[in-house]
Amino acid sequence: MTHARTTRRVLAAVASVGAVLITAACSSSSTPTGSAAAGGGVNWDERGPITYAQGKDTAGVWAGVLKEWNDAHPNEQVTLIELSPEADQQRADMIKRGQAKSGEFSVMSVDVVWTAEFAANGWLQELPKDKFPTDGMLASAVDAASYFGKLYAYPQSSDGALLYYRSDLLDKAGLKPPTTWDEMQAACDKVLPTQKGMSCYSGQFQKYEGLTCNVAEAVNSAGGEFITADGKPAVNSAEAVAGLTWMVDGFKSGMIPKEAITWKEEESRQAFQDGKILFLRNWPYVYNLASKTDGSSKVAGKFGVSPIPGKTGPGVSTLGGHNIGISAFAKNKGTAGDFIKWIASEAQQKTFLQKGSLAPILESMYADADLNKEFGYLSTLGESIKNAQARPKAVRYGDVTSAIQDATYAALQGQQTPTDAFNGLQTKLEDLLK
Ligand code: GLC
Repeated sequence: MTHARTTRRVLAAVASVGAVLITAACSSSSTPTGSAAAGGGVNWDERGPITYAQGKDTAGVWAGVLKEWNDAHPNEQVTLIELSPEADQQRADMIKRGQAKSGEFSVMSVDVVWTAEFAANGWLQELPKDKFPTDGMLASAVDAASYFGKLYAYPQSSDGALLYYRSDLLDKAGLKPPTTWDEMQAACDKVLPTQKGMSCYSGQFQKYEGLTCNVAEAVNSAGGEFITADGKPAVNSAEAVAGLTWMVDGFKSGMIPKEAITWKEEESRQAFQDGKILFLRNWPYVYNLASKTDGSSKVAGKFGVSPIPGKTGPGVSTLGGHNIGISAFAKNKGTAGDFIKWIASEAQQKTFLQKGSLAPILESMYADADLNKEFGYLSTLGESIKNAQARPKAVRYGDVTSAIQDATYAALQGQQTPTDAFNGLQTKLEDLLK
């Protein structure tokens, strides 16, 4: 990507976030409510048992991490509450607790796109910056944990898309990992005739948050933008439509297997691990699981990762990740505060990387020579995150993402042309983001 293009993207992201925040500021229901949420009257010395709620522990890291904490804090035990593996369902479960003013989830793993909504509704405890310093953390992760310049959660792990490819098969065919969609197709045309039952590519195409991430990547990787530099949706541009068309044509031609319309992260990971697809777009957590030599993965030692491909060069990832926030209604906020700081510490960030190949939130870890030696994919992951495009920061993010999913899914299922789908989406987003 050229420097100018990078700068344009950063400006666009900043401007779009600003525009959405201005919208939020004008709406009476959008400023954080409640003295606890606003930071008043919190007893940061109150300690005792707490709970920690997050999506299903697909990376398989939390039992060990919590054992370490619990062994060291017998009077401040943390109990894990595992929610659905699917982002939208996790959000719904957390919103239910927030609306009921329930502290049942003392600490929550908040997807980067939920911060604005949770903070605006007063469900997250504001974190005073003197107690919760963010020096050395990735700026994009801190931004995703902030709302109106205040911190409402601590960065926990970042996320950027990677292209997983079968290095054994590409090597045999004398091919390098593709940097463009055409190169990926050409690689499939060469390799697949020798591989019975294997399909070319998959990402996540079920109707849920993962689809929003994938379609945003297709649009951004075709030179389009969901939101322009002046904060307006631009999904009816020729470039944006070209991004969606690539996905739609992928299903039509069979480049993407039909079943992938029901795949989320886990189903697509399974397909790759079972040797059913040559290329997979997914998050870094897959690396560790696909490398397992206990028989659960058929591709251990036979795959590599590269940046996701785009229309004319490397593509643009959607920025993912999670922040760890304290419920405004939680008891024992002192323990909760210590716990989230411990999770963000270098020691735990290394554990998450080593045991679950999760993306660290500490900038220095991406430049660490030893870590780069141990984890060959770390620099590719760092680049993916550095160039990633954030999703809109909107209080009504639930409506924004539903509109994106509806339009995209209708096009993927052939119910609407990409042009019609994105023209309709443009109108909806103009309304939601005005
Ligand atoms: C990953 C990302 C998160 C995203 C989700 C979509 O968990 O970290 O940001 O919303 O995938 O499925």
